Amino acid sequence: MKTYNIAVLSGDGTGPEVMTEAVKVLNAVGKKFDIEFNFEEALIGGIAYDKFGVPLPESTLELAKKSDAVMLGAVGDWKYDTLPPEVRPEKALLGIRKGLNLFANLRPAIVFEELVSSSPLKAENVSGVDIMIIRELTGDVYFGTPKGVETRDGKRVGFNNMIYYEDEVRRIAHVAFQTAMARGKKLCSVDKANVLDVSRLWREIVVEVSKEYPEVELSHMYVDNAAMQIIRAPKQFDTIVTGNIFGDILSDEASMLSGSLGLLPSASLGEEGKVSLYEPIHGSAPDLKGKNAVNPIATILSAAMMMKYSFKNNEAYDLIEKSVKAVLKAGYRTQDIMSEGKKLTGTTQMGDLIVSEINK
Ligand code: IPM
Ligand code: MG
Repeated sequence: MKTYNIAVLSGDGTGPEVMTEAVKVLNAVGKKFDIEFNFEEALIGGIAYDKFGVPLPESTLELAKKSDAVMLGAVGDWKYDTLPPEVRPEKALLGIRKGLNLFANLRPAIVFEELVSSSPLKAENVSGVDIMIIRELTGDVYFGTPKGVETRDGKRVGFNNMIYYEDEVRRIAHVAFQTAMARGKKLCSVDKANVLDVSRLWREIVVEVSKEYPEVELSHMYVDNAAMQIIRAPKQFDTIVTGNIFGDILSDEASMLSGSLGLLPSASLGEEGKVSLYEPIHGSAPDLKGKNAVNPIATILSAAMMMKYSFKNNEAYDLIEKSVKAVLKAGYRTQDIMSEGKKLTGTTQMGDLIVSEINK
């Protein structure tokens, strides 16, 4: 029997509700594959601020560092919106990414055949979409210095620095090429090299790294065009690699191909052999808190990604994904993906249904 220690950071809003379902699913998967999961919880986000006065307590980061993998729910709630920026819940996300050196963020945008009609886009355009967006996660304008707001010559000025070191680009490029190798062998690097110097370096390094992956067909696209192409003809993409800010924007955009933010998981990976973190790409949806109404599928699929990327267990990944699809095929829908003639399902029931598919 294998034992894995999982840090469970449920966070705020509906984070704890979706996490409960993911833990249920992992326990079911554990029984199938003879794995024991030790789940240890710690606070992150607003709830951590309430108790410790900081959104990312040192003890939470320590627990995450010594665990085999981290599952994260979501952070944020309206009641924290007026806090100073350095203690806002979002700061904890940036802090844990940097603290664990999670530089590679994998955000798949997959359209389940059963849900083609939930997309706001035309069915024929989204049916069969399977894109992997690889977003650099610890650099760029998110972390660049100098930054701040100050007064110069009597005028206030705000500034951030869009900056990449060549080694930062190189390591994310390697992750991207390796990911593309395991998929459709097509990689599109998204930048703004027609305007930004930092993008020109990005492109140069990506081209350099591409020499080590001759089988991968590499293309480049400016970010404005990419934003348009993702909506116009998403099936042209297999794997996309881009910087932190462009990836933030494009991954939210791509989530709409599938119809709901409630469906999409993510993996944030660090150096080989180090701890990785798994979280849904959606927020904490505080308006749905306590209503048993939020969709747990994104978090459940994040747990599936953990099995694949942290524990190299593709069979467990496939089993979870297959079980989710079976439940959707049987007509069960949470409210975010509900349509006529389908069976409206709560958060807990959705988790239970997926567990019973796993147990079959
Ligand atoms: C995301 C979010 C975060 C980001 C925010 C909440 C800090 O939008 O994970 O995409 O900008 O990275
Ligand atoms: Mg975002």
